[in-house]
Formats: sequence, C-alpha cells, structure tokens
Amino acid sequence: MVTSSPDSGNGNGNPVRTVIVPAAGMGTRFLPATKTVPKELLPVVDTPGIEMIAEEAASAGASRLAIVTAPSKDGVLGHFDPRPDLEQTLAERGKDKIAAKVRRATEVIRVESVVQNKPLGLGHAVLVAEPLLDDDEDCVAVMLPDDLVLPMGVMDRMREVRERFGGSVLCALEIPHEEVFNYGVFDIEPAGGEGAKGEDSPADVKRVRGMVEKPDPEDAPSNYVAVGRYLLDRAIFDALRRIPRGKGGEYQLTDAIELLIQEGHPVHVVVHDGFRHDLGNPGGFIRACVDFGLRHPDYGAGLRAYMEERLEQDQ
Ligand code: G1P
Repeated sequence: MVTSSPDSGNGNGNPVRTVIVPAAGMGTRFLPATKTVPKELLPVVDTPGIEMIAEEAASAGASRLAIVTAPSKDGVLGHFDPRPDLEQTLAERGKDKIAAKVRRATEVIRVESVVQNKPLGLGHAVLVAEPLLDDDEDCVAVMLPDDLVLPMGVMDRMREVRERFGGSVLCALEIPHEEVFNYGVFDIEPAGGEGAKGEDSPADVKRVRGMVEKPDPEDAPSNYVAVGRYLLDRAIFDALRRIPRGKGGEYQLTDAIELLIQEGHPVHVVVHDGFRHDLGNPGGFIRACVDFGLRHPDYGAGLRAYMEERLEQDQ
C-alpha cells in the first residue's frame, strides 16, 4: 500500500523511496581509463563504486536507484543487467560463489535511468531525474558515487533528523580549512537555535543558516562541508528550476539548497562521525583500494605484509 502522508515514502514508514545517483561526469581525472570505462565502474578491490552505492541505497530502505547517465555511458546501466550466460558458465564450473557475486547487482535494487544530455552541473543532473519519482514522494535522496562515506549508514541518521526537524538534511564532515574550496560549505548553528539543549539540539545535528559552493578559504563560513549524501524535500526541484548558473557556469545543487534556506525551508546537517573516500580522483581512489584491500578476508594479510616490506624499502 502506498500512502501520501509526509515521511511515508514507501508505505512502510520509510521516507526514502528513490535515490538519485548522478553518474554523467566525464571522469576527466581518470583518463585514459575512462575513455571507455565509466569511472563509476572502476573496482574498489572487485566491486564497482556504483554497486556499493546501490547497496547503501537499499540498506537505507530505498527501492529505486535513479541513475543519471550521459549519452556515452551505457556501461553503467549494463552493470545492473542480468548475465544468465555468464552465470550459467560459472555454475557449470562449480563457481557458485562468483556467480552469486555476478547476480548481486541485478537483485539489490530496481535501477531506472535518465540521460543528462549536456554537462550542466550537479543541480541540473538532479533535476533531470525528477520525472522518475512517483507523485506521492515527498522527499528524495541523492548519493554521489564519487563519495564513499564510511562507516556506511549515515542516511539512517539523516532520516531520523528529517523526522524530527522536517525539511532537508545533508551529511557534513569537518575538514582542514585549506581544503574547503573543493566543497559546498555550510554556515551552521546549533540545532534548535542558540541555547537549545537535549533532544532539541542533538550534538551531531546542526541547523544550516547558509551554504556556499566552493568558496575561497578566506570567505568560507566554516570547515563543515557537504559530502555526497543528501535527503532533500521535494521542494528542491522547484528551487532547481529557479536558480541561475553558479560556480563554474553550472547549475549547482548547493545554490538550490541555499535558495530554500533563504525562503525559510529548514535545512540541517548530520555531522558524520566517520570519514570519506573520494573515488573521483586517482589519489583518493588508491586510498580506498588500500583501505578495503587491507580489510579483505582473502587479500588483507598479503597486502599488509607487502606494504610493510615495501614501505621499509623507502625509509
Ligand atoms: C559536489 C558538490 C559539492 C560537494 C561535493 C562532495 O562537488 O557540488 O557541494 O561538497 O560534491 O563531494 P564535486 O566534487 O562534484 O565538484
């Protein structure tokens, strides 16, 4: 049964039914690999980043992954198509565990897609996904596949915060001041306003007074930045239609959120007690591979021994 009351997005009390995944970027920083392989398919150990996002979306209770692709990036969607031929061959060879891994992406969540024909920015990418939503969805999540936010599961906390404070909720991390120019940066105050205590002002929640995309460090309102997880009220689409082009000549999601704030819409952040890997550039991607590699049951011990030996050579 689907109901239309606020915060009952999939009819079972979970407000997140759709997760939009913008995956239309050119992957410039990963060329030449991304000439033919979309960056979202590059594997962290053996699993493409986009499959990890699909898992995270499903764990957050979502039932639909709305992938925004570019005209030349069909491979991203192909990853979620069944491959019965491959599964059969693997099964015939007794490789059932690997066959299950192949099947996983087809089972985890329903994937739908829309094409962003021109690279007009993150805000535009989110806007082109609007037609995929059902009429009764009051909110939508956005997960950026460049950002691996660990430990996984921050969307659960963001959902609780939306239930408590309404409006839209984003994920924030505190980072060194000199790095803020790469991010959307928050101007924040305690949730519930100055002086609020207890349940009215949980320590990990802040109210957002303003948000600015990639400011110069000297203009940045804080060191708290947006890291790729958004739980947005449906009003975001209307705001996205009303913003002008912003930073880099693109339509910025940050600017639409700032517009909502100016119009009195509540926006909060969950300050995540964790960290994030940036899969969008080779330096961050290598770290993620090392991190997941070290924790891998098959490869962890060997990788650790190799790294210790290798680092010793460099001393
Ligand atoms: C995007 C957003 C930015 C956010 C960042 C997180 O920027 O525009 O506000 O802080 O993702 O990764 P991008 O990295 O796509 O340029």
